Amino acid sequence: MIEVRPTPAPIERVDSDAVVVGAAVDGDGYELGRPATRLDEVSSGALSRSLDALRFKGSVDKVAQVVLDLDGRTVVAIVVGLGKRVEVDAERIRLASASAAKAATKFGAVATALSVELDDVPTATKAAIEGTLLALYRFDHYADDDDKPAVCVVEVIDADADSVRLAVASCRATILARDLVNTPASDLKPAAFVEAMIEVADNYGLAIDVWDEARIVDERLGGVIAVAAGSDSPPMFVELSYEPEHAVATVALVGKGVTFDSGGLSLKPADNMESMKSDMAGGAAVIAAMSALASFEPNVAVRGFLPIVENMPGPTAVRPGDVFTARNGKTIEVLNTDAEGRLILADALTLASESKPDAIVDVATLTGAGAIALGDKCGALFSNDDKLAGDLLAAADRSGEKLWRLPLIADYRADIDSSVADMANVGGRRGGAITAALLLAEFVDEDVPWAHIDMAGPARAKTPSGYVAKGGTGFAVRTLIEFVVHFSV
Ligand code: BES
Ligand code: MN
Ligand code: ZN
Repeated sequence: MIEVRPTPAPIERVDSDAVVVGAAVDGDGYELGRPATRLDEVSSGALSRSLDALRFKGSVDKVAQVVLDLDGRTVVAIVVGLGKRVEVDAERIRLASASAAKAATKFGAVATALSVELDDVPTATKAAIEGTLLALYRFDHYADDDDKPAVCVVEVIDADADSVRLAVASCRATILARDLVNTPASDLKPAAFVEAMIEVADNYGLAIDVWDEARIVDERLGGVIAVAAGSDSPPMFVELSYEPEHAVATVALVGKGVTFDSGGLSLKPADNMESMKSDMAGGAAVIAAMSALASFEPNVAVRGFLPIVENMPGPTAVRPGDVFTARNGKTIEVLNTDAEGRLILADALTLASESKPDAIVDVATLTGAGAIALGDKCGALFSNDDKLAGDLLAAADRSGEKLWRLPLIADYRADIDSSVADMANVGGRRGGAITAALLLAEFVDEDVPWAHIDMAGPARAKTPSGYVAKGGTGFAVRTLIEFVVHFSV
């Protein structure tokens, strides 16, 4: 991973190959930020003369590169537009940092001064580092990347060591989730996914308890058993726990861990199956977010509940029309084996409820309908509790991740009525994200605040943009960290 360190040196003295500075739009021209102004002074106006010559205006994400001679030392100033000064916020700094990072990939060491572009320097510092590191992410485990960024050091001007450390922890966690999502399903079957989690738990101070198939049968996790039945990989169930010394509250995080979703006997068409190695993105987000807790040290206990299965067709697979009993005793008729996520989450939510937490949040690549409703950049949020929903929306907003609340419309519960069981696992196509959420609600204690994040759209990016690379995005990791760190009952 790229080394990130605060530097006490004044901007003209940092010895990186390039320095990133900001400039805002000011009328028809630009207004240099404080660090850029300093560079302009020490270069005797060369910076602003070059920007004028380049017709630079400070518009959002426009980048100008200017070579400066500072007393015989050559430095590349990467000036990035921040748009109107009053509109500069953390997300603008992340995006500006990403644009600058993409312009700086040739350099071995890059310094950033966007860390001072907000009055709240710790927030700007974190945003600048996130935008930079996440934009420089590449998944190159399976092929050499010809234009792999050369950046190996990022120096952060005027930053405090703590903000840097936390930003790096948040990026490392996001990158862990991206790597897990991008790993081919053949190399991340349930056992391998669990191995990876054991390693992460060991490295980041989490307790981990792994249930094998026999234990899963013993514990009557009917949904997990049904979904895994068609695969030659047995199901696994993981419970993670972060236990601070003086916990004031407990949060349960539940993540969908389908290592590959073929649809089962209700087989997916080829086009829809192509990306289904990413169907464990919810589980990846939970382990990744929890891996950062040792750095953030919230006074909140966090338990992760992760059902891990592969959804495959085969002679032993669950059939459309089959009925099974979930852990809480309710029966479910499986009409479509491709609606598998809700079946494993049903048991995981039951276990989470049994642990009597102050809140439950589940994250899952659950429905194509969620993606149809909100597109590829926004998760769908459902909740039985307005405070919890508000806290998650606020955490997402601070993280630069988009969440939009959709309603749990009780009337639609009739869509998943079954003639032979307590419920069917699918309703119609219409309102599909809502009926999926209503099914999940059947497995949560009514008096426990619960939220469900359907991230079928944003878990994976078809094209890169901003600080998000093509492939696994690490969506929800930073929101979950932010949510837990600020959690109170
Ligand atoms: N894993 C899929 C949902 C999904 C779709 C994730 C697209 C990412 C991108 C889920 O298991 C699924 O197959 N859902 C079905 C449910 C349907 C059968 C009711 C869907 O959305 O089509
Ligand atoms: Mn499916
Ligand atoms: Zn799925």
